[in-house]
Amino acid sequence: MLRTAFTELVGCQVPVQQAAMGAAATPELAIAVSQAGGLGMLPHGALTPLADRIARLEQAGAAPFGVNFLLPFLHRDALGDVELAAGRARLVEFFYGDPDPGLVGLVHAGGALAGWQVGSVAEARQAVDAGCDLVVAQGVEAGGHVRGTVGLLALLAGVLDAVEVPVLAAGGIARARSVAAVLAAGAAGVRVGTRFIATHESGAHPDYVAALLAAGDDATVLTGVFSVGWPDAPHRVLGSAVAAAEALADPGGEVARLRTPSGSEPIPRWFVSPPSREVTGAVAAMALYAGQGVGQVTRVVPAAQVVAELAGGAERLLRGSVRLTDPAGS
Ligand SMILES: Cc1cc2nc3c(=O)[nH]c(=O)nc-3n(C[C@H](O)[C@H](O)[C@H](O)COP(=O)(O)O)c2cc1C
Repeated sequence: MLRTAFTELVGCQVPVQQAAMGAAATPELAIAVSQAGGLGMLPHGALTPLADRIARLEQAGAAPFGVNFLLPFLHRDALGDVELAAGRARLVEFFYGDPDPGLVGLVHAGGALAGWQVGSVAEARQAVDAGCDLVVAQGVEAGGHVRGTVGLLALLAGVLDAVEVPVLAAGGIARARSVAAVLAAGAAGVRVGTRFIATHESGAHPDYVAALLAAGDDATVLTGVFSVGWPDAPHRVLGSAVAAAEALADPGGEVARLRTPSGSEPIPRWFVSPPSREVTGAVAAMALYAGQGVGQVTRVVPAAQVVAELAGGAERLLRGSVRLTDPAGS
């Protein structure tokens, strides 16, 4: 068993956190990850209310689990969902905004741990000063919205030197080798996004999953183009998605439609959300978020298998790979 400061703090079995990823991060995915010993996460926003999705996890006995909030979509006069999450999840975490002692205090008042995903050493210090119990260091390799400009290993080294709380590493981690590398460096765990999109439990559209499986190491680009709904926020996507959106015959029109409980809604070109199973249309031209580990994502498997492979493989690598020579020669 890979016990770390993170597993001790949150009470999970292995140091693997699944990233909250919009509609790709279904309750089924979080349940599978938590039941496999990792930390399953729910995103705040979804077609189904947060309370109902939390209830699904509770009914399945999936514990511990966490809830993720994106600051640009969190209205400060409507923090009821933060309070709800704080009362029922083990971890409530935030991304893409300055660390805020008020939000952290709200989480602690509800009884949960507070976390913040950061993109710089300065932001990590701010998160700890705001009272966070853990931070996630997100390297520029990450899929989805990217907070900083520095590669994971350099960022992680700086953050580990700067803060005392457990630090998770995020960005481009898709295989056990990368998990072992960051644990050896001092990370208390990993946060994995892209790899979990290619699982049976993911809510991603099948064409999105197929594009990830077909993509090589150099298939991603850091861009700002999928900005409708969330402007001025760099994100990493498959380059093929940008090309497909640019090539659309009717650039002003809708690219796809989203099935909703009451019918369907148009999705404009350059819309921020990635395609879920509820989408029909030009899926290949939508925001196909992916990290730089995408070339190592080659199969769709159960999420539990991903957790077991990442944690078990890292443990084997850490036990077996380093043989230090005793200077005395004994
Ligand atoms: C499809 C997708 C959606 C994401 N949505 C969120 C989100 O809602 N909140 C968040 O904190 N991070 C989000 N992220 C970023 C992850 O937290 C994490 O930093 C990233 O997935 C790590 O890189 P990787 O994808 O290479 O594993 C998303 C990432 C992806 C791929």
